Amino acid sequence: MKTRIDKILSESNIMTRSEARAAAKKGRIAVNGAVVRSSDEKADDADVISLDGKPIERRKFFYYMMNKPAGYVCATEDNGPTVLDLLAPEDRARGIFPAGRLDKDTVGLLVITNDGPLAHDLLSPKKHVSKTYYFELESDLSRDDADLLSQGVPMDGTVTKPATIVSERRSGTITVTEGKFHQIKRMFAYVGNKVTYLKRISFGPLELDSTLAEGKYRFLTLEETEKLRGVR
Ligand code: URA
Repeated sequence: MKTRIDKILSESNIMTRSEARAAAKKGRIAVNGAVVRSSDEKADDADVISLDGKPIERRKFFYYMMNKPAGYVCATEDNGPTVLDLLAPEDRARGIFPAGRLDKDTVGLLVITNDGPLAHDLLSPKKHVSKTYYFELESDLSRDDADLLSQGVPMDGTVTKPATIVSERRSGTITVTEGKFHQIKRMFAYVGNKVTYLKRISFGPLELDSTLAEGKYRFLTLEETEKLRGVR
């Protein structure tokens, strides 16, 4: 799959797309040794791109943040629409997959990457990566029920790990350090309540970018990528 040269340079954190356009005009960029005058030109993985005569180091791992909308499944294949259907073909072609699952009706922060080992670490129960969700409920949450949930409730033959809940009547945030199947919905169901809306607002060191509309995604910044790698 061919990708625009300005995009390759910016994805590899070498320069911004507008800097790449200016560099191409000045004849600083070459593909397989031939100078290109426009960064609109495209290259694929086998092409060698040089800047000022030196081959650039291309990135192998890609990390995206998506604000997942409702109605999409967190899988690479399904009978219905998957979160990968929301990606541009050139991003999809990178063999990326969602790091973890949000239910079809859950919205919010999802990390999508082709870095299998990092995804594995982020999801490992041993790493206790924290996840914060904003929730809305069908009925008011009593103080006693909030306390019970924060201490731990029976699930899958064990007890859920301590959680932090900040709530006011029918909404609030809950932070957990595990990722059991439908965990948040099942926790509230245990105290006889029902989650009517669930949005993940943080995942480990990452916070959902409030400027990212539902269904949109972007690359993690260098700083965010470093923070995420710090989970290892
Ligand atoms: N817990 C749930 O119940 N659903 C999600 O999507 C994520 C956490």
